[in-house]
Amino acid sequence: MKDLLKICDLGRQDLAEILALSERGDLGRPLAGKGVALVFQKPSARTRNSMELAVVQLGGHPVYIQKDEVGLGERESAEDVARTLSCYHEIIAARVMDHSDLVTMAGATETPLLNLLSDTDHPLQALADLLTIRQLVGRLDGVRIAYIGDANNVCRSLAEACALSGAELTVASPQGYGLETVMDTLPDGVRQVADPAEAVEGAQIVYTDVWVSMGQDGEAEERRRAFAAYQVDAALMARSADAWFLHCLPARRGEEVSSEVMDGPRSAVWRQAENRMHTARGAMAWMMTR
Ligand code: CP
Ligand code: NVA
Repeated sequence: MKDLLKICDLGRQDLAEILALSERGDLGRPLAGKGVALVFQKPSARTRNSMELAVVQLGGHPVYIQKDEVGLGERESAEDVARTLSCYHEIIAARVMDHSDLVTMAGATETPLLNLLSDTDHPLQALADLLTIRQLVGRLDGVRIAYIGDANNVCRSLAEACALSGAELTVASPQGYGLETVMDTLPDGVRQVADPAEAVEGAQIVYTDVWVSMGQDGEAEERRRAFAAYQVDAALMARSADAWFLHCLPARRGEEVSSEVMDGPRSAVWRQAENRMHTARGAMAWMMTR
């Protein structure tokens, strides 16, 4: 059994296996009679619902644990929370403020740990993104993806996923919010630029995420000013090769994306959201076969 904290923990073969399992549908009941702990320090719609359904589809029982119940690092240390949950559960899945809490928990127990989003990474999102892109374009190798906006947790996992799958990613961000601020070296096939139009030119996929992530409310005004020229609107989409639009959601229409694009004919955000359930199922089934 394996942890899944970051996309860069995976090899190419692992990624291929997870995507194949995600598309297979019925994977039997490898979690029959077993529990999966779902610890959330931050809100969630897609991750909680897709994980709960995926656990049930694998025959298991999800236990949703809210921030105040477990009090990670407050009521009890992260190590002791992990040790306790490992007494009952086959997999511990957690959405945390600070990625180092996941690393601490993973080190405290043999029970596999699954990252449901941290300040630095969102691996389950990237798996759903790749599955969606492959369904839309028919392949991943050489696909041209533009990511417009904040080089945040979603962007970083997407960059690692692109490097693993042969997709080419160009990220456009304002000064101080690009990948160079969070990664020492850009992965293979990943480029950082400042100009959104340059990133979108010839892209088959245009992707964005919020300007103000969970936990960044104190920087909201400063961020809205910095990202003002980075909205994905119809004029920007028109510079692409008739690209599909993706967004991990939740979206703030009128900020990082216009309603016209979000609700337009080239938007695949609901298919992407549905794929969160299929890739959650594939990822957990893969963790259990390791
Ligand atoms: N995309 C995503 O992780 O959504 P939630 O925050 O609603 O889980
Ligand atoms: N970057 C966003 C993603 C939400 C799914 C956040 O961390 O809030």
